[in-house]
Amino acid sequence: MLISDKMVAAINKQIGNEFGAFVQYVAIAAYFGNESLPELARHFNQQAMEEREHAMKFVNFVLDAGALPEIPAIPAPQSKFSSAEDAVKLSLNWEETVTKQINGLMDLAAKENDHTSQSFLQWFVNEQLEEVSSMDMLLKIVRRAGENLLFVEDYLARKGTRPQAPAAE
Ligand SMILES: [Fe+2]
Ligand SMILES: [Fe+2]
Repeated sequence: MLISDKMVAAINKQIGNEFGAFVQYVAIAAYFGNESLPELARHFNQQAMEEREHAMKFVNFVLDAGALPEIPAIPAPQSKFSSAEDAVKLSLNWEETVTKQINGLMDLAAKENDHTSQSFLQWFVNEQLEEVSSMDMLLKIVRRAGENLLFVEDYLARKGTRPQAPAAE
């Protein structure tokens, strides 16, 4: 096996955290769907799918390392929110917590001189910078929109159709 039992146990726990994020974002998407805010619902469904991909990356890493992935129990997500701001704030807190979890895994890998895990985890370190910054941006936009969440819907709709890179001339 390429990585220690301790590292496998820590990654198995993170698989649970990533699936936890998956169900939490599905619950938030459902909340927005129920509030007739389709762009916010779409955005959070998309976030949920990314979290599922994160979980699967960890599952495949454990398999590649020659160990058995053991998926822990996933706690029930929060389904009810007092406002859009409340739901997005919870998401930002979640992303900040996950960043700490990834840093903890990186610390363990460094302590164990486990370069295999460090190299794998580097992708997540970069991903979390993106996740925290985009969620922070969304929270600020929701706060600016105040009562009129249709501004947020419009922002997300435009963001969804904008090309990712400038077109070549
Ligand atoms: Fe994630
Ligand atoms: Fe995330």
